Amino acid sequence: MNDKQFDILVVGELNVDLILNKIEGTPVLGKEVFSRDMVMTLGSSSAIFANNLSVLGTSVSFLGRVGQDNFADLVCSSLEQSGVDISSLIYSSKSNTGITVAMSYGDDRAMVTYPGAMSDLTVDDIQDKDLNRARHLHVSSIFLQESLLPGVHLLFERAKKLGLTTSLDPQWDPSEKWDVDLEALLPNVDVFLPNEAELMHMTRASSVQEGMDKILPFCNHVAVKRGVQGAILYTEGMQIVEPALLNDDVVDAIGAGDSFNAGFIHAFLLNQPLTVCLETGIVTGAINTTAAGGTGAFTSMEEVSRLALDNYNFKLKDKLREEKV
Ligand SMILES: Nc1ncnc2c1ncn2[C@@H]1O[C@H](COP(=O)(O)OP(=O)(O)O)[C@@H](O)[C@H]1O
Ligand SMILES: [Mg+2]
Repeated sequence: MNDKQFDILVVGELNVDLILNKIEGTPVLGKEVFSRDMVMTLGSSSAIFANNLSVLGTSVSFLGRVGQDNFADLVCSSLEQSGVDISSLIYSSKSNTGITVAMSYGDDRAMVTYPGAMSDLTVDDIQDKDLNRARHLHVSSIFLQESLLPGVHLLFERAKKLGLTTSLDPQWDPSEKWDVDLEALLPNVDVFLPNEAELMHMTRASSVQEGMDKILPFCNHVAVKRGVQGAILYTEGMQIVEPALLNDDVVDAIGAGDSFNAGFIHAFLLNQPLTVCLETGIVTGAINTTAAGGTGAFTSMEEVSRLALDNYNFKLKDKLREEKV
């Protein structure tokens, strides 16, 4: 029997993306240029993960910090629209909602991020009552959340003591210090979801294998994401290599890692074998690349199932038909 209100509590960063396209020239100090196209949307890896997981049918609650401003309204309404519970969000009085301003030139972008309220979140903001409402804890983007990072291992320790399963996607460290005590953190992380570069930086290794050799003695399951090469799962002394499902019509790979995580954790919470979790992540990562941004392809479970079947002959619903605990 499951008496929890939510399948998962996602702790992570929230921000708005302001994307300027069709810019007529390069910005220069003291001058002004036109942009002929602008999009303002929910940003952040954690939010893409929460959105897509909720679309797949997992019940998601989000805990993060926003400011007391109009950008917070955009964040909240976007999350609510995809069915994510926002009753645990915290409204900071000292900082505004985070924002990334992206200036787009063809395939490349110049970005400036104001982290704002996301850097105010501490482990003390996440209370036992928040953890007790869910059966799984997922934390993402620890290096973007500067006040959370020093105590993040304590949060995972507490979640495990309360009986939750756990997962972590570290994401990139903009300061490139990669300063985290993996030996304190990873024993309490059931599923660790870095990409190859992040794994190598965090372990200070020059290859994925060297990095894995360092953490294998104290970590649990690890899925290392490898972009167009797919992913490798390290579990119980085995390595399972799963190639990516390549599309002819890639729109962009923004959020592919978050969509991989959503598929993997969705299957994990349906008590599927880890090989099925891996396969599902590979399918949702590939689906992500067929539409713009991280959430474009994740409009409804029906649509995601159709894309999985039509593009990759993957019967998502059949594969994942399993009782919830
Ligand atoms: N161009 C692509 N075509 C098909 N699948 C892709 C593509 N890019 C990424 N993926 C899938 O999405 C997963 C996550 O993407 P990746 O770029 O490795 O993550 P991250 O964004 O965290 O670096 C990959 O393991 C792969 O399965
Ligand atoms: Mg990533």
